[in-house]
Amino acid sequence: MTQATFHFPRGFLWGTATAAYQVEGNNTNSNWYAWELEPGRILQEGKAGLACDWWNGRWREDFQRAADGFQNAHRMSIEWSRVQPAPDRWDEEAIDRYIQMVRGLTELNMTPLITLHHYSDPQWFVDLGGWENASSANYFEKYVRKIVQALKDYVSLWCTFNEPNGYAFQGYLMGVFPPGKKDLRATFNVLVNLVRAHAAAYHSIHQIQPQARVGIANYYRSLQPDKPFSPLDKWIISLLADFNNVFPDAARNGKVRFLANRKHIKEAVGTQDFLGIDYYTRDYVSFNLSKWKELFSQRHYRAGTELSATGFLANEPLGMYEALKWGLKYEIPMIVTENGFEDADDQVRPKYIVEHIHQMWRAVNFNWPIKGYFHWTLVDNFEWERGWTQRFGLWGLDIETQARHKRPSADLYAEICHENGLSDDMVSRYAPRALPGMFPD
Ligand code: BGC
Repeated sequence: MTQATFHFPRGFLWGTATAAYQVEGNNTNSNWYAWELEPGRILQEGKAGLACDWWNGRWREDFQRAADGFQNAHRMSIEWSRVQPAPDRWDEEAIDRYIQMVRGLTELNMTPLITLHHYSDPQWFVDLGGWENASSANYFEKYVRKIVQALKDYVSLWCTFNEPNGYAFQGYLMGVFPPGKKDLRATFNVLVNLVRAHAAAYHSIHQIQPQARVGIANYYRSLQPDKPFSPLDKWIISLLADFNNVFPDAARNGKVRFLANRKHIKEAVGTQDFLGIDYYTRDYVSFNLSKWKELFSQRHYRAGTELSATGFLANEPLGMYEALKWGLKYEIPMIVTENGFEDADDQVRPKYIVEHIHQMWRAVNFNWPIKGYFHWTLVDNFEWERGWTQRFGLWGLDIETQARHKRPSADLYAEICHENGLSDDMVSRYAPRALPGMFPD
């Protein structure tokens, strides 16, 4: 077997990504809190509860775990409903806690990447119509200004929205996130308002902090035709590709384009300093006339692919390379803002990690401007409509006792971060099955 180390550029960011609602616990002013109380919304009626108990201070020990694992960056989010529990009220104590957390990261020499909106909304905002409200961008902009003023001494890397495409799709088309709608018109309306809000936030952040780097974390789903020679399969993929493109396209040229809908938002032109890519998996897609609710598409994972513990994801590392190649067209730096696998027993995760990082390394070697990688996630957390049924952490969590246990993947990832690279020796110790594919003779 070839001996080699795949090195990354100096200063490459290595970290994990987290989201406020999923780790803090007791976010009682959030729309997700109300959603959890509705029967049947969350798998096994799961509740975020204390989550990883960060709000009571356990962020300290988890950030220490990340730092001990040689991570030099961390992506976390701010819960809008804490900062602004009512339209006319700021919670300075909550803001202060976020300042402490972010300062805590910098004291551990980790670069903070702050997400301003990660799926959850204040309940009062939802009561006013949420992202369907024509004034939603104004509300968001006020909150963004407040938080950027508060954190600007520690943070210069910002994500306005996490997966705005996924947010709109799951909440307004699939109905699995609040508000549980299945309405194409509402989906487009929400996408447009999210683009407006992103643009307003982008300009506000730059006004307060001229040196800021502002982007979004875009969900990228790799889509391959089920039958490579079928024009119908290819055609349906070209339609579904709007899902990947809609947001970064709008942030480049102001054109919001989703299926048959079009809208031009001129203030969105050129509002992206970096492209965040959340890549997890790949679908094989065929055209199916009977599946009109799924936009005439039928998706499945490739036969024989390794699946995550509950079958939610397939291990498709080539999709990582594809995602980065797709991102090149925006001609801005790229950051892998999420990538991970649910796997309580850590059976496949080490292989998933090395294979995906290998594909990212291939891309880096073409001098594509890739600046960092954030693994999803540090510690098992509340997985939205899937509750606690999926375990994405490098560290496991016992939700009854709050005890953490280290998975082998945490040690593997620590070695990668420490080396700023990936070697055949690491792969042979943590994921030997990946060796022949990565280090052929
Ligand atoms: C979301 C995370 C989520 C992860 C795994 C991502 O798309 O941004 O919030 O936990 O997927 O389900």
